[in-house]
Amino acid sequence: MRKKFKVILFITFISLCIWIIWSTNVDMSNTLLIRKNNYIFMHKNIMNPSQTTLKPFLAIIVMSYVGHVELRSAHRRVMPAELLKSMNAIRIFLLAKIPPNEKYITQDAVENEHAVYGDILQGSFVENYRNLTYKHLMGLNWASNVCRPTYILKVDDDIVFNLESTYKFISKLGVKENLLMGYMLNNTKPRRNKQNKWYVTQDEYVWNDYPPYLSGWYYITTSDVAMRLCEESLYIPPFWIDDIYITGILSKAIGVSLRNVPENYWLEYYELLECCLTDMINKFIRCDFVVGPNGGRNNLIVEFNQALSHCDQWKNCTARPKERLLKDVCVVNRERNIFSDGQGEIKLLKL
Ligand SMILES: *[C@@H]1O[C@H](CO)[C@@H](O)[C@H](O)[C@H]1NC(C)=O
Ligand SMILES: *[C@@H]1O[C@H](CO)[C@@H](O)[C@H](O)[C@H]1NC(C)=O
Ligand SMILES: *[C@@H]1O[C@H](CO)[C@@H](O)[C@H](O)[C@H]1NC(C)=O
Repeated sequence: MRKKFKVILFITFISLCIWIIWSTNVDMSNTLLIRKNNYIFMHKNIMNPSQTTLKPFLAIIVMSYVGHVELRSAHRRVMPAELLKSMNAIRIFLLAKIPPNEKYITQDAVENEHAVYGDILQGSFVENYRNLTYKHLMGLNWASNVCRPTYILKVDDDIVFNLESTYKFISKLGVKENLLMGYMLNNTKPRRNKQNKWYVTQDEYVWNDYPPYLSGWYYITTSDVAMRLCEESLYIPPFWIDDIYITGILSKAIGVSLRNVPENYWLEYYELLECCLTDMINKFIRCDFVVGPNGGRNNLIVEFNQALSHCDQWKNCTARPKERLLKDVCVVNRERNIFSDGQGEIKLLKL
């Protein structure tokens, strides 16, 4: 009887060991597979920029959905090659493969666009917001390993920004290494509600807080940091919200501290940008903010930059008076929330 019991115990023990070894192996191969994706999608592209300016002052990498032809053309119009050259800057667009549900663009059209401008880097993964981490890493990897500029500016194609102000700002920074600077988001939490676009399961992200990170709309970094972030991505399983993964999780792992852009640099809402622009056009009050969202208006980046260059050309704009602060003149009735997907409501006062 006792012998039989021992045998059963022994068999149970062996089974347990086998189960443990087997399950950790599955885990191991899963994480290895995921990290391998980081590596493959960072390096294996189907289309590479044809420009070869090495070690420029600035490389602008623009995350762009493959179908956003108009937005890319707006960027090229406002920031043409001559302007970029005068700043020793280059710009590329980060695209991925056309998804099956996309009916308005063909790979031939992308190739024609590339033949004309030579400024496209196209990844070997399919466009999807859940693949943005791969796209983001691909851009940082190209910039820091192939182009090797002093500074990298990462922007999204639907963001309005002024390049001259950006250039002046960066030129005055002084630091040429260890820089990761943008609009800091502190104390954000994973959305656990399935209806939210940013819904994240416990499996995808187990903790209850995100580390501080930078908004992916627009941030500035240096080549050394970009290179270390890419290297670190081979050891840390990817998380699909790209700005949190790269500027939050990876930056923390490599020990780079985040820096905030100054106040009066960043407009969080489209409505504020609209007010700022309207005042510049109608009242000749210069809009000194550098970055804001386009609220779905593809041409806003052109209108904003044209109004600014008129101001500077005619030299007859005034600074915004202290008693007419944008946030008083133009009120956005919405709790500040970077994850919300609708537009804030707006009330125009005293306009
Ligand atoms: C991400 O890209 C891969 C590789 O092309 C593709 O198989 C996958 O479907 C894409 N992910 C999503 C969520 O579409
Ligand atoms: C986040 O924290 C940093 C430094 O601790 C601070 O400078 C910044 O203003 C904070 N940002 C927000 C949006 O609260
Ligand atoms: C500024 O100059 C432009 C072009 O000369 C002119 O149309 C505009 O009325 C001027 N604005 C003011 C406030 O003087």
